[in-house]
Amino acid sequence: MDQIVIRGGQRLKGRIPISGAKNAALTLLPCALLTDEPLTLRNLPRLADVDGFGHLLNQLGCSTTIEGSRPEDFGRVMTARTTTLTSTVAPYDIVRKMRASILVLGPLLARAGEATVSLPGGCAIGNRPIDLHLKALEAFGAEIELASGYVKAVAPGGRLAGGKFTFPVVSVGATENAVMAAVLAKGTCVLENAAREPEIVDLCNCLVAMGAHIDGIGTETLTIEGVDRLHGATYRVMADRIEAGSYACAAVITEGDVELVGAKAGEMEATLAALREAGATVEGTKSGIRVAMSGRAQPVTLSTAPYPGFATDMQAQFMAMATLGTGASLFTETIFENRYMHVPELARMGCDIQVKGRTAVVRGVDHLVGAPVMATDLRASMSLIIAGLAAQGQTEVNRVYHLDRGYERLEEKLQAVGADIERISAG
Ligand code: EPZ
Repeated sequence: MDQIVIRGGQRLKGRIPISGAKNAALTLLPCALLTDEPLTLRNLPRLADVDGFGHLLNQLGCSTTIEGSRPEDFGRVMTARTTTLTSTVAPYDIVRKMRASILVLGPLLARAGEATVSLPGGCAIGNRPIDLHLKALEAFGAEIELASGYVKAVAPGGRLAGGKFTFPVVSVGATENAVMAAVLAKGTCVLENAAREPEIVDLCNCLVAMGAHIDGIGTETLTIEGVDRLHGATYRVMADRIEAGSYACAAVITEGDVELVGAKAGEMEATLAALREAGATVEGTKSGIRVAMSGRAQPVTLSTAPYPGFATDMQAQFMAMATLGTGASLFTETIFENRYMHVPELARMGCDIQVKGRTAVVRGVDHLVGAPVMATDLRASMSLIIAGLAAQGQTEVNRVYHLDRGYERLEEKLQAVGADIERISAG
């Protein structure tokens, strides 16, 4: 397994290109199942999960071809076409490796009137149930059966009728599955307390470009009037607001000055507000967002929440940034039940973090000391990179396959702004 080695102490200075958003790409790709015409996605990030999703689409009968990048994009162009579905089954051996595979459930149900998808199971940050996905689809008329670790969904008569569902808690994935199921329903589907993340807006905008009728995009109430068919489209994946926020934290902890090229301030207001609370200079530029810092980060008090609140996907990275700050910072993780796996690893580098249930108190220390550490999940891995960039001495991050799921060309991007970082391939 590869390892990333960092020798800390370099201030990050320069421009960091922000790739297409992983969590947008993973909900845009299954849209190719909804039509027999080609869907061309631009600015796709080069990530393990995107490649994995492409393989899953291939298994369902969707052909995918990767072209080069457009000059204005960092990501690649992929054209996906499902002339006819050859399967409506997403098998366990794929779904267990990539939870986002569950996002083929809605599109398969919409296109073929049936879908058999393995239950994804839990992961490092929580047990990740999918009950809300299933309840929303049932509200639209689907018949759902759970057997031998699989979900079998059927639309009576081959097509969902329509209906109304109010989410008891906000769920990004359940909203995405429900919207993708609804676009080809016979009637109208209404979702209340729907997720409002920018990635959902990206999904809805892509579906509208394919001919879907969706009202309330960007709000918590989505009204989808089903149509008989969708056509192909070309759509550009939004910039990754979590990648951008992650590099912003790296700039702050190293007292650097970076421009996040391609980042959109309007999609990450809570992150930018938290960076300003920590004392960073944050300003829009003509091609992105500049983040600069001198001195140590001020204490922050942050509680994760659904968008537009502070993103749970930014919690670990901000915590790493706070470890060298002044005073005590307070984090509350309200979305996932086990999202502090980075804490014991950060402690190995000399951080002072006390976790009690969903809350963590981070007391700034004078310095961090590089150490061998273990990545446990995607965002936890990034918190270790961020701490390593500022630690005295060498940090070796192991199990970097977690990182490769969500951060494209990480070491190249950081080397380009002055970090002393390299990947050691273990063969
Ligand atoms: C998406 O996961 C993201 N993944 C996650 O990013 C992100 O952390 C999460 O949304 C929250 O923003 C992708 O987009 C591929 P949820 P998702 O359904 O859809 C509970 C990363 O690091 N819940 O919004 O799985 C659930 O347990 C990843 O990029 C149910 O109870 O998240 C959690 O407590 C990690 N029943 C809460 O809702 C359900 O049916 C929010 O989960 C579904 C969810």
